[in-house]
Amino acid sequence: MLVETTCRLKVTAKEREEGIQDLREQIRGHDELYYRHSTPEISDREYDRLKNRLAELEKNQSQLDLFGESLTDASTQTSEDLSPSQTIGDDRLDAFESYRHIVPMLSLDNTYAKEEFLQFDQRLRKLFDLESLSYVVEPKIDGVAISLTYEKGVLVRAVTRGNGVEGDVVTQNILHIKALPERIKGSFAIPELIEIRGEVFMAHQEFLRINKDREAAEENLYANPRNLAAGTVKLLDPKEARNRDLGIVLYGLGACKPKDLFTRQSDFHDAILDWNLPTVENRWLVESAEDAWAAIEKLDLLRHKYEYPTDGAVIKLDSLAMQVEAGATAKAPRWAIAYKFETEQQETILEDIQTQVGRTGTVTPVAHLKPVVVAGSTVARATLHNADELARKDLRIGDTIVVEKAGEIIPQVVKTILEKRPSDAVPYSFPTKCPECDTELLRAEGEAAWRCPSRDCPAQIRGRIQYYASRNCMDIENLGEAVIQQLVDRELVRDVADLYDLGRDDFLQLEGFAEKSADNLLEALEVSKKQELWRLVCGLGIKHVGATAAKDLAREIGSLEALSKASEADLTAIDGVGDIMADSIRAYFADDSNSNRIPRFQEQGLNLECTLSPQMGTLG
Ligand code: IVH
Repeated sequence: MLVETTCRLKVTAKEREEGIQDLREQIRGHDELYYRHSTPEISDREYDRLKNRLAELEKNQSQLDLFGESLTDASTQTSEDLSPSQTIGDDRLDAFESYRHIVPMLSLDNTYAKEEFLQFDQRLRKLFDLESLSYVVEPKIDGVAISLTYEKGVLVRAVTRGNGVEGDVVTQNILHIKALPERIKGSFAIPELIEIRGEVFMAHQEFLRINKDREAAEENLYANPRNLAAGTVKLLDPKEARNRDLGIVLYGLGACKPKDLFTRQSDFHDAILDWNLPTVENRWLVESAEDAWAAIEKLDLLRHKYEYPTDGAVIKLDSLAMQVEAGATAKAPRWAIAYKFETEQQETILEDIQTQVGRTGTVTPVAHLKPVVVAGSTVARATLHNADELARKDLRIGDTIVVEKAGEIIPQVVKTILEKRPSDAVPYSFPTKCPECDTELLRAEGEAAWRCPSRDCPAQIRGRIQYYASRNCMDIENLGEAVIQQLVDRELVRDVADLYDLGRDDFLQLEGFAEKSADNLLEALEVSKKQELWRLVCGLGIKHVGATAAKDLAREIGSLEALSKASEADLTAIDGVGDIMADSIRAYFADDSNSNRIPRFQEQGLNLECTLSPQMGTLG
């Protein structure tokens, strides 16, 4: 009997140890994706759950056991050996110079439960032996943590959180932020040195604009504004960063000389406002946990109107002296807590998975859903990104799935509910051949996307022409999807230049066309010949060249002919054009089928010159 009990206990302990190791591995993987690559694969909520589960399992372990696998020699342990429950992630990349923060940048303890927030207040009241405490309640911005150092009022450095102790210097990319003054002025005393902490974010509108541009240039889309902000802060080419509008919100104090300039978090807020630095538009100074809770509820109603994404409230002790007394763990202060709002999720049925072939041949799986209202609008489709993502989530047609809006904008399939899976649901197998032209699909090494390699694929031909005619490019009226489909099906058009050889009779063959509609379309094509050069450059669909880059190129290079002959050096000399884009432009024109189009366009009478000189500024 005794032997049996011991055995069972032994197995349980081993299982627990394995569970801990497994969770640590998973969390380290997610940390790497989130902090270094800005491409998380799970929602913040799921991540928080994994971390909570790990903390629960580790509760009874000794301090030493919190070092990961290398239990043998404690003297050689580094933060990389620590359990991820004891660290705050690390965003540092080799390509950047590192800088050691004067005051470390910690994380925050998170909770989703009011009860836990009240316990936080109770612990502090007990510590200070007070009936109630003053707090500041602020929005929790879902962006990228940043530390700005101002010396004698001048911005000298912007550094990411890194591992909390040391971060990456990203000053060049931060200087582009329009709302951020490089010099602080105001009636409040300017300190000798101050580290001001905040969050860099991307506004919803800008996020949508950039993703639209990327979609048009057939580049991978960012799943939410936070990932795009993080990717932009870490762009190696500051010229590229200039083409993306970032915002910044400042809320926190790091080092300060002289030390006693501020006595309260609320004083610090007042100084930020006085110095004209961008900060949160609402913050509540309250006298008790009850009032803090009321402020959190108010914030939840207001936050959707903010320019930046928010995912909760941060509640901080107002008195800085009390903050010091409360202290911090290795990871987070004891004087602050984040209360996170739940992201609205809904269940629905995955009715179908269809694949779409883009104009460069990328095959994207799309989930067709039983329509469901999520955060105020009906969702019937959601991109599944690529085959790997589909396989990782093991989504099957007929599954009941959970959807949410990433960054409150883009519908996303979070997971499938296995308990509700129909018994006859079969694993989805990604097509091996192009759904449009049956060509064997290819996948380049290291790429997530499958592509149809055939330039003759009708879906790609249609895609190229649709893109050329779209509002963002040549803006050809009445040349919509249905007309293009017919023109391509009847083999009247294979290339964008073929459009200008079409005659009245060609249009009259098409369904729904009469003399008037044929003439209107011919007129629209004629009008398009006079479009500005950047629209044509954009419409060619050169990889990585969206509308913004097309404007820069047209303005600086001056003609299509010159663009086709521009050297790497000519191209990279332009603000906003990096090596990758320059290579892509040169590869495009090295292909005869592209360069041969230029004399054809000339003969057809298209405008191939830019009428504005480089000094005259941005084209409309
Ligand atoms: S105060 C000592 N206030 O959330 C830590 N952080 O999840 C002080 N964050 O690392 C942080 N909004 O990057 C603070 N109003 C706010 C915040 C905020 C967003 C970020 C910050 C922090 C992370 C923790």
